[in-house]
Amino acid sequence: MVYDKKIVVIGTGGTIAGQSGSAEDLTGYQAGELSIEQVLATVPGAEGYGPFESHQLCNIDSSDMTMAIWAKLAHTVQAYVDREDVAAVVVTHGTDTLEEGSYFLHLTVRTTKPIVMVGAMRPATAISADGPLNLLQAVQIARSPQAVGQGVLVTLNGTINCARDVVKQHTTDVAAFGNSFFGHLGFVQDGQAHFYYQTLRKHTANSEFAPLSTETLPKVALITLYGGVEAELIHQVLQGKPHGIVLAGLGHGILPEKIQQIVEHSDIPIVRSSRTGNGMVSAMPSDSRFGFIVSDTLAPSKARLLLMLGLTKTTDRKQLQTYFEQY
Ligand code: SIN
Repeated sequence: MVYDKKIVVIGTGGTIAGQSGSAEDLTGYQAGELSIEQVLATVPGAEGYGPFESHQLCNIDSSDMTMAIWAKLAHTVQAYVDREDVAAVVVTHGTDTLEEGSYFLHLTVRTTKPIVMVGAMRPATAISADGPLNLLQAVQIARSPQAVGQGVLVTLNGTINCARDVVKQHTTDVAAFGNSFFGHLGFVQDGQAHFYYQTLRKHTANSEFAPLSTETLPKVALITLYGGVEAELIHQVLQGKPHGIVLAGLGHGILPEKIQQIVEHSDIPIVRSSRTGNGMVSAMPSDSRFGFIVSDTLAPSKARLLLMLGLTKTTDRKQLQTYFEQY
């Protein structure tokens, strides 16, 4: 098949661009070493899915990602998808914060064109490196007519995942990405993307946060609670004057009594989410009494991003809660 429109491949770094001194070294390597052109050159068969244009946005370990870099990424992707000669965008990204980076673009880029994000769990120098196949499958998904209008998709290990739901679930396994509650949207087999589900939540073309209109986002803290958590921890975070806080609470997003007493009727929005990694945090009668927002089925890291973007529009808690029901 000959394509006339381009896929733009944007490199941001990560293990997919990582190198180490030995093929056996699967953990002690340096992420973000190879350029996006070098990474693309290691993918046999990729040329069949071109033409490509490449763009090196940064080349870092994704643990060093910042909101400013993601904002720049959102503006860059928007500029490419707005171009007539571009069919789709593929973004290579470190896996450690891929769940956040992908959801941020899902909410802030206005398009129906496919945006596929991809990483690797093993560096490019490793025996059985997974990056080349993952990247090949990313461009195969990007060329699929079924990927149109699906928002940002994340692929590793042959799976196709929705950016809203996908989380990193394993420290080193190549099958690290998915959502054990919602599953995958589909998978790639024999060079073909196969889709089975799609999200009903708002994103990209119908997101009111897209296109991203700001570089500086409100400051939102994310705190994971634990048995025996000290009240002091919350006081310290509040001293930093955040515009909002997401609490990854216990079980169904439960806050220990002493934490609840500090944050109830707070003058900043407080979102209850769950540290369990699965399921929904739904509203309880006490939430409206105390002014808490609930995170629905969003992972705490994603709830933080939605609260940040919501706060660019309003501080009204009812409206903020509506965002968590829609996105
Ligand atoms: C990173 O997130 O940049 C390092 C880890 C990885 O990409 O797997």
